[in-house]
Amino acid sequence: MSSGTHHTPPPVPSPRSTHGETASPRGSTPLQTRPPQSAAEPAGLVVTCEGVARTFGEGERAVVAVHGSSCSVRFGTRTAIVGSSGSGKSTLLHILAGLERPTAGNVSWPGLSTTEHERQGQIGVVFQSPSLVPALTVAENAALPLVLAGLPEGETAERVSEALRLVHVEDLADQLPEELSGGQAQRVAVARVLARRPALILADEPTGQLDQASGQHLIDVLLATAEQIGAALVVSTHDTEVADRLDAQWRMQEGRLSLDDPDPRMSAGQIDQPAVPTTSPATSRSVGFRR
Ligand SMILES: Nc1ncnc2c1ncn2[C@@H]1O[C@H](COP(=O)(O)OP(=O)(O)O)[C@@H](O)[C@H]1O
Ligand SMILES: [Mg+2]
Repeated sequence: MSSGTHHTPPPVPSPRSTHGETASPRGSTPLQTRPPQSAAEPAGLVVTCEGVARTFGEGERAVVAVHGSSCSVRFGTRTAIVGSSGSGKSTLLHILAGLERPTAGNVSWPGLSTTEHERQGQIGVVFQSPSLVPALTVAENAALPLVLAGLPEGETAERVSEALRLVHVEDLADQLPEELSGGQAQRVAVARVLARRPALILADEPTGQLDQASGQHLIDVLLATAEQIGAALVVSTHDTEVADRLDAQWRMQEGRLSLDDPDPRMSAGQIDQPAVPTTSPATSRSVGFRR
């Protein structure tokens, strides 16, 4: 994204839990705002991976989930990671989130806070399996990261009801997770991330349990909200209709990352490919998520 079109950074709560999308177990810290972009920050780069690889297990049982791959995500960009089940999408997404350490290569977040704790509060992850807290209602689940971040009660309530409304689960605010369908739980998990207004939204197959119309609506909401809060959006999916809604498509095949889009400004690739990672920003229509 060019610096001239850079979005104003959203206020971003800082903590998160070990599950990424909920808040830190360490309790409250002040809300964080993404640091202003400086000349040292290469044109709004949020996260960049150089030759990252992830192997699970050892010896004969070792599984290479991600082979040495390079990619970058810029502010204001919307990227799909496409691939079949087991191709390494979730592993790559977790590396981009800082939740999974690569066994080779480097990952860095030039556009986010330099302290890990604060940075994790600037990254919102929608997990493939929604990890809602069973004892809390839908509204309490969505509010939890904000409460732990110390956001004032009124603003927390406002953000939560807005996020629940956006994903069409406002009527479920007082329900417990066990009373939800898989698709409803998935939408609540998305609302929890949207309410935080992170600088980087990573959604792992967020439409996996939704029918086509609901899935497309959820993608509408993710696209529009990401634009309004100036966040970068990365969505993993095996659904080409979902992938087509995003601007760039990265393809994972047996742990190998390649780039479908010939635009050299988009960037993802194996480490031995010469292309330098990047993604160009785009605009989408508004769905009325207030700042
Ligand atoms: N924690 C883990 N331990 C062992 N193997 C894993 C682990 N996570 C993922 N894998 C393996 O890595 C490969 C890629 O998995 P994953 O990233 O979940 O793919 P996808 O999200 O595309 O379905 C698969 O073979 C999977 O079994
Ligand atoms: Mg997966």
